[in-house]
Amino acid sequence: MKRIVVVGTQWGDEGKGKITDFLAQKADVVVRYQGGNNAGHTVVFDGKKHSLHLLPSGILNPKIQNVMANGMVINPKAFVEEIDKIESFNLMISERAHIVLPYHLELDKAYEHFKGNEKIGTTHKGIGPAYTDKAARLGLRVSTFIREDRFKTKLAELIKVKNQELRKLGAPRIDFEDLYNEYIVYAKRMAPYVGDTSLYLNQAIEADKNILFEGAQGVLLCLDHGTYPYVTSSSPTASSVPLNTGIAPWLVDGAIGVTKAYTTRVGEGPMPSEILGDLADHIRKVGNEFGTTTGRPRRIGWLDTVVLRHTKRTSGLSYLAVTLLDVLSGIDELKIAISYDLNGKEIDYIPAEIEDFMACKPNYITMPGWKEDITQVKSFDDLPVAAQNYMNKLNELVGVPLAIFSVGPDRNQTILVKEIF
Ligand code: GDP
Ligand code: IMO
Ligand code: MG
Repeated sequence: MKRIVVVGTQWGDEGKGKITDFLAQKADVVVRYQGGNNAGHTVVFDGKKHSLHLLPSGILNPKIQNVMANGMVINPKAFVEEIDKIESFNLMISERAHIVLPYHLELDKAYEHFKGNEKIGTTHKGIGPAYTDKAARLGLRVSTFIREDRFKTKLAELIKVKNQELRKLGAPRIDFEDLYNEYIVYAKRMAPYVGDTSLYLNQAIEADKNILFEGAQGVLLCLDHGTYPYVTSSSPTASSVPLNTGIAPWLVDGAIGVTKAYTTRVGEGPMPSEILGDLADHIRKVGNEFGTTTGRPRRIGWLDTVVLRHTKRTSGLSYLAVTLLDVLSGIDELKIAISYDLNGKEIDYIPAEIEDFMACKPNYITMPGWKEDITQVKSFDDLPVAAQNYMNKLNELVGVPLAIFSVGPDRNQTILVKEIF
């Protein structure tokens, strides 16, 4: 494969950053195709940890051309803060991507407040309101943002509407002059990187370059195929790559589904295989399961293969990359959800109606655990037999072959089982 999507198969934080960084060693181009700085992707190598939010995970490698494609929503302030931490890099930003402005953050908070007990638990980064404005044709695109006069005129128009909305919701109003004066500085910092990324990507494909499309979030957070309304406002699926980058669908060769060896979720919404109590605390501690973006403790659950088969169907998965396997060492018995019970009926899909999904009770199988520390393992055969069995069962239940597994956060704790580039 030459053009591969790295897709999160669960509710985000599966280790997409780590797998992208690992595969990027053989890539020429890394593309972020959706989301914004709600994402938090961790990359660890040479003993250093890097947290990326907007920038693609190839950004730390100066040989890679990084692309922020049209499907993204970009907070310019966060963008400048992030590039200022990196010495040298190659980056191109789509002029068709949308800009996240401070009123989006205020609206995000206000909507959450309005929802009360039914809040989504968003990252408060303004992602939903920015995509809403895109769809409502009230958005600001990068191409306009970087043209000083057009940005000023457009912002003056938009802010009138937005301040009315904020007032109705009892949220603070945004001052036009202050916003303009601050953001014009960011626009000038962003301008040198802006271009037609669809044109560039099509040229890169013609030149036979290896391209990685790095998803943010996970398929269960997809606006269409996730657990609506407890989702983000974009589509992390592999099938969204053509639309969100401006290439033909048949030019995507396949997708590698990044899967935690268990399940986590940040924010509200159903998670049938959720574990509560001491075992969840143990996994959270060993796996350092605290959000990269918000620091919130992640909810913990058993591996759920109904979720993974849903992802396989709705996104497409050619291979799996299983991460955080090391975290399960020392747990006596491991459960895997194989189907759900919904009102006395066994089902193998995710119901569209959230109330039904909330009523789903997983049916589990139990596998013996292993005691050994596996963080230094270098091949599949080095794994304890129980860990091999657990992985084989996972692959069998999902019906997707394993390409990579990972036994620690560092790049060199990644084991390639099958060459995919
Ligand atoms: P992403 O959003 O999908 O890129 O994932 P995050 O970076 O938000 O969360 C994954 C977390 O797990 C990060 O802290 C990684 O450093 C860490 N991680 C990734 N792979 C492994 C692994 O195999 N073992 C352990 N222990 N940690 C890992
Ligand atoms: P990465 O790319 C995990 C969750 C939020 C919330 C819901 C909507 O690091 O995997 P939003 O701010 O997008 O409107 O929030 O989605 N969420 C994530 N959870 N990882 C992420 O990104 C997430 N991005 C958003 O917690 O439940
Ligand atoms: Mg993350």
